[in-house]
Amino acid sequence: MFGNIILVGFMGSGKSTVGKELSKLLNRKFIDTDEEVEKEEGRSINDIFNTQGEQFFRNIETKTLESLLEKKNYIISTGGGIVLKEYNRQLLKKIGKVIFLHADVNHIVNNVKYDDTRPLLQTEDWIKTISEMLESREDKYLSTADIIIQTSGKNIESIVQEIISLL
Ligand code: S3P
Repeated sequence: MFGNIILVGFMGSGKSTVGKELSKLLNRKFIDTDEEVEKEEGRSINDIFNTQGEQFFRNIETKTLESLLEKKNYIISTGGGIVLKEYNRQLLKKIGKVIFLHADVNHIVNNVKYDDTRPLLQTEDWIKTISEMLESREDKYLSTADIIIQTSGKNIESIVQEIISLL
């Protein structure tokens, strides 16, 4: 038994895909904080941001995280901004082993370019937005992580195998 495994990282770094694959291979339950927020609210993240704003979303995100304290042996994938609050970072460490999927700008740009489900990237110069956000969040991901995995240029299978070898 490894306890809970939590994937953190920027939007488009592969957290959900890697998480689902890990859950299959390790035969563990999977939970995604973004999906939990959407279930709780009965609407999409875009909708929540557009009608009630980011702060409202962040509050539900934190409540979702609090509810995960009671989970055992889950694979948990998180929203990219979960590390922004110090309180969330403490919760993450309590919930389980935190794995940071570290991707570079190109990798992220490729993964999100046809995707309009991320409200924070609906800007005129979204590539610039990504590189600025990445820079401002990097320290927070790093300080929360127990394990750092470089994902750029790797396929899902090798990322998953690398994680399993480190557990
Ligand atoms: C966000 C990342 C998104 C989602 C929301 C905000 C962020 O999750 O939680 O759009 O602040 O980075 P993904 O990382 O799964 O895209």
